[in-house]
Amino acid sequence: MKTKVTVVGGGNVGATVAQGIALKELADVVLVDIVEGVPQGKSLDLMETAPVEKYDSILTGVNGYDGTEDSDVVVITAGLPRKPGMSRDDLLWKNEEIVAGVTREVVKRSPNCIIIVVSNPLDAMCEVARRVSGFPRERVLGMAGVLDSARMRAFIAMELNVSVENTHAFVLGGHGDTMVPLPRYSTVAGIPITELISKERIEAIVDRTRNGGAEIVNLLKTSAWYAPGASSVEMVEAILKDKRKILPCAAYLTGEYGFNDLYVGVPVKLGKNGMEQIIEIKLTDEETVALKKSADSVKELFEKLKTAA
Ligand code: NAI
Ligand code: 2OP
Repeated sequence: MKTKVTVVGGGNVGATVAQGIALKELADVVLVDIVEGVPQGKSLDLMETAPVEKYDSILTGVNGYDGTEDSDVVVITAGLPRKPGMSRDDLLWKNEEIVAGVTREVVKRSPNCIIIVVSNPLDAMCEVARRVSGFPRERVLGMAGVLDSARMRAFIAMELNVSVENTHAFVLGGHGDTMVPLPRYSTVAGIPITELISKERIEAIVDRTRNGGAEIVNLLKTSAWYAPGASSVEMVEAILKDKRKILPCAAYLTGEYGFNDLYVGVPVKLGKNGMEQIIEIKLTDEETVALKKSADSVKELFEKLKTAA
């Protein structure tokens, strides 16, 4: 049987995820959206791209969930952006309703799938998917750390005028402006950036990473999709190919890093079972305080969720 990935939400991020999966021939893709014509049109466009890009993944678009049965991985990108007059809490509850509904439909048809949540606010939406699905934590993960680290890597490469391939960056915590980029664990060709870049310039890179999402929103008047899409595909690939790749993911912690019952971005080994292991690294007192602050802001959102725990 061919591998199947369902991508829910056929907007900017969802369509980019579908394209990335096809370009790498990781699986067939079912694209789901509530807007009539959008998932059908985008998947047909991607089918017509196949002869040029030379992939044989089959892409289909649907408005319901027919055809999503027995998906191996489900990526949830459905959600609303914040609209005028809407508070952050209104957005939280609207997207909670959307993610809860999507999760319910998906797990009915794909009870063994691994869910990757992308919808914002990310850490809270992961918790909604976990509660509604009833899945073990190994099978409900969030994409944010790969994106935040990719942004930091891009800024490091620009700073030093080196290949991005030489860079490695570590970002922990929630997906928001309290995220915790870790320069000590960020390297260029194995050398910590603390030995290559001045303290002031590292602070500027850390700051830019924390505000990476907002920087794009200010330019585009909507949020990014190329890097978020590619980052989601990296997680899908690690799972489908059982790569056991260590990537920063939003994971439900039960004691790790001193946090309980909370989604926090931490290094995770990704393989065929989803989360194979959480990697715990040593943090300085200052880093620990920053991670706690980030986790506290995630906890505040969890307390506002309406979905039963
Ligand atoms: P978009 O507005 O382009 O696409 C969202 C799509 O979801 C729309 O096509 C909409 O029709 C669809 N949708 C809404 N309700 C639905 C439902 N019940 N079932 C199926 N589809 C539904 O937005 P974009 O740019 O693709 O972003 C999607 C989400 O991902 C947003 O919440 C955004 O904030 C988040 N995001 C998260 C990132 C991360 O690092 N975790 C990075 C970038 C975006
Ligand atoms: C981003 O970081 C807004 O979460 C979105 O681009």
